[in-house]
Amino acid sequence: MGLYRDCLLPWAIDRALDRAECRELRQRATRGLHGTVLEVGFGSGLNLPHYPGEVRRIFAVDPATFGRRLAARRLAACSKPVEFIGLDGNSIALAADTVQCALSTWTLCTIPGLVGALHEIMRVLKPGGSFHFLEHGLSPDDGVARWQRRLDPLQKRLVGGCRLTVPIDDRLAEAGFAVERLETFYMKGPRINSYIYLGVARKAGLI
Ligand SMILES: C[S@@+](CC[C@H](N)C(=O)[O-])C[C@H]1O[C@@H](n2cnc3c(N)ncnc32)[C@H](O)[C@@H]1O
Repeated sequence: MGLYRDCLLPWAIDRALDRAECRELRQRATRGLHGTVLEVGFGSGLNLPHYPGEVRRIFAVDPATFGRRLAARRLAACSKPVEFIGLDGNSIALAADTVQCALSTWTLCTIPGLVGALHEIMRVLKPGGSFHFLEHGLSPDDGVARWQRRLDPLQKRLVGGCRLTVPIDDRLAEAGFAVERLETFYMKGPRINSYIYLGVARKAGLI
């Protein structure tokens, strides 16, 4: 599993998620980010070119250290400081109420113990802070969902723990986020892994 999981898979994900349709969605997901931002599942830094000028500093968390090597050119071109602060969204090395915003793209499907990680994101967000997400997940269409459930074990094995059946909005609510904006739609391609949840959730409290 070593070479496949550690190098080949991050490389393949970098290629697969760098197409025009994904870039357009990244642009929408990052809109409104500002101040200090935590990115959970930094991957190969494909969001870096989309961070708005109002972002001052980025904290990055991801277990796939090879992704940082793939991100080298994007990191060099980025005018904002990017600090790698850990490997797991379930344990974020920041004090409570530290960041104005958080971001995850195509990542929540992969994190084991997702609600725990969402609690961690909530903990480090300042009161009133926003969590921007762009994720694939469970389809509301019975026929698609049936295939998602069937193929979930295979997907999990082949794609680094990625699950097709995560109801992203429900998990956010379960963790105590108020989902403030949510768009759901299918991207182009096979419906089992293209049902998208794009939006912003908020931690309670005054900004
Ligand atoms: C499909 S990739 C998406 C990468 C990147 N966010 C993007 O949009 O291109 C999923 C990412 O989640 C990361 N990941 C897996 N488990 C994680 C965890 N427990 N905490 C944080 N990130 C995790 C993977 O290493 C991988 O980089």
